[in-house]
Amino acid sequence: MVFAVVLAGGMGSRMGNSDTPKQFLKLGKSPIIIHTVEKFYVNSKFEKVIVLCPKQWVSHTENIIKKSIKDEKIVVLEGGNTRNDTLYNALNYIEQNHGIDDETIIVTHDAVRPFVTHRIIEENIEAAKKYGACDTVIPATDTIVESKDGETISSIPNRAELFQGQTPQSFKANKLKNLYESLTQDEKDKLTDACKIFSIKGEPVHLVQGEVFNMKITYPFDLRVAQTMIEGAITND
Ligand code: CTP
Repeated sequence: MVFAVVLAGGMGSRMGNSDTPKQFLKLGKSPIIIHTVEKFYVNSKFEKVIVLCPKQWVSHTENIIKKSIKDEKIVVLEGGNTRNDTLYNALNYIEQNHGIDDETIIVTHDAVRPFVTHRIIEENIEAAKKYGACDTVIPATDTIVESKDGETISSIPNRAELFQGQTPQSFKANKLKNLYESLTQDEKDKLTDACKIFSIKGEPVHLVQGEVFNMKITYPFDLRVAQTMIEGAITND
C-alpha cells in the first residue's frame, strides 16, 4: 500500500506575526494546504492521504478539506513538536490502522509546497519501491559556502556535487520506522529531515529530480511569488 503524508504540523513562524499558520493562508482561491492535498488525492495509487496539522487546527483542516474535496481517503491527524515527530505520528497511524509490511510506501510532502507535480509524485513512488528511500532535489544554482563560525569561510564545496533538497521524500515505511527507533535522543534532536535518518545510518537515498517551481513557502516574499504563479496559471487556462 502507498500512503501520502502531508506535513502541516508547523506554525510558520518565519512567515511573521500571523495567528494563522502559513499552510492555511489563501493562495488564489483556496488555502495553500488544499492545493497540496489535491495533488495527492487525485492519484489513485494512494490508499490514504494523511494530513497532519497542529492540534488546535485539526477541526478547521477537516472542515476546509470537506468543503473542497469529497473523498473519504483523506484523514486528518494531530502533528508533533518537530517535523519528524509529525512524520512519526503518521507512521503510527498507518501501523495501527493498516499494518506495515515490506510493501508499505510513504510519500511525505511539505504542506507548503503546493506546486508539486504528478511526475515528481510518480517518480517518488517508483524510487521508494526500488531503492527504499528517495529525496527530491534540484541542482544547486548558487555557490554554497560553508562557514563553521558564521564569520569566515571554512570551505567552498564543488557546486556540481551539491543539490537543494525539496519534498516529497519517500520511504519504505518499515525501514524508516526501524531506523528512526534505533536513533539515540541526541541523534533525533539533530535531525533536520527524514532522509538524514537514512544517511546517518549509511543507508542509500536515491535522488528524484525536482523542479525549481516546487518551492517551499517560508517567508512572505515566497507567498507573493506563489500568488503570482497561481495568477499566471489562472490566466493561462
Ligand atoms: N512541519 C510539521 N510538523 C512540525 C513542524 C513542521 O509537519 N512540527 C511541516 C510544516 O507545516 C511545513 C513543513 O513541515 O509544511 C516544512 O517546515 P517549515 O517550512 O519549516 O514550516 P514551519 O515549521 O511551519 O515554519 P517555521 O520554521 O517558519 O516556523
